[in-house]
Amino acid sequence: MRVLVTGGAGYIGSVVAAQLLASGAEVVVVDDLSTGHADAVPPGAEFHERNIAELDPVLGDWRVDAVVHFAAKSLVGESTENPALYWRNNVIGTVALLDSMRASGVERIVFSSSAATYGIAEHQPITEDAPARPTSAYGASKLAIDLALADYARAYGLAAISLRYFNVAGALVGDGVRFGERHATETHLVPNALRAAATGTPMPVFGTDYPTPDGTCVRDYIHVVDLADAHLRALEAVETGRHRVLNLGSGLGHSVREVLDAVGRVVGRDVPVDEQPRRAGDPATLVASNAEAGSVLGWRPARALESMIADAWEFEQG
Ligand code: UFG
Repeated sequence: MRVLVTGGAGYIGSVVAAQLLASGAEVVVVDDLSTGHADAVPPGAEFHERNIAELDPVLGDWRVDAVVHFAAKSLVGESTENPALYWRNNVIGTVALLDSMRASGVERIVFSSSAATYGIAEHQPITEDAPARPTSAYGASKLAIDLALADYARAYGLAAISLRYFNVAGALVGDGVRFGERHATETHLVPNALRAAATGTPMPVFGTDYPTPDGTCVRDYIHVVDLADAHLRALEAVETGRHRVLNLGSGLGHSVREVLDAVGRVVGRDVPVDEQPRRAGDPATLVASNAEAGSVLGWRPARALESMIADAWEFEQG
């Protein structure tokens, strides 16, 4: 199989591109390097520095069988301040990509959606039939594409799966292989906690008065390698004329304090913290039901929180 990976110079895209190559697939990466890194594109992948809105008509020349689509803006806070960037890049850009796929006869797509599509859910764990009420332009932009994919599947016979990620952490490390999180602006808990433990500079804990067992937010962390495995399975599971939505999470929640304790154990030094008020837009708890991904993809995450943190730590150490 020959697969186009958009955003293959980014965190999750580079891991999926590497896993696809390891599985024997041919990989073409498109990334405009607005947030990605050229040296994160795995060796062996064909790389084109290009925006997803500019693939017509070249996509036809690349002769791909399927698309895995990651290229997107992905900061919730930024999306609230500058929603135009998210509507233009994530929505208009993706519709252009879908239309280039139609024009060149590419019928399979796996899309990087998000738990942010659900907003503040009434029930945990969150199942795919929960109402989608995003609380940020980022979540709204992901939901817009989920809806577009349903229409394109019905009307044009697209074979599509949207994977709604919960909290992705960890890295792909081993035998000369290193793919992980390198965001210019790092907002995520695990890399920030690793850096705080390493440098001794306190990191913020946003909110200690949530209605959770220890007062900090509870999230469902998933290892990026398990997440990548689900993409490879989804590429095989897509069906012509059908769009499915699947949650990717572990089904287990960990509080911010539990994560910080685990980081302390892995690094061998406590994480210094600075307790701060709640961060705008953070729901108290987000935990996935992964039953549907289990039944459609035969997928089950295999790596627990400490393994994500240990792999992220190995990556951070360079
Ligand atoms: N947190 C801190 N201090 C930090 C960073 C994070 O206390 O320095 C807390 C947050 O307040 C939150 C938890 O750690 O309670 C996790 O925060 P992250 O920023 O790591 O992840 P989010 O849960 O906010 O975001 C993730 C994805 C988003 C997606 C969202 C869905 O990164 O892309 O889940 O709600 F939109």
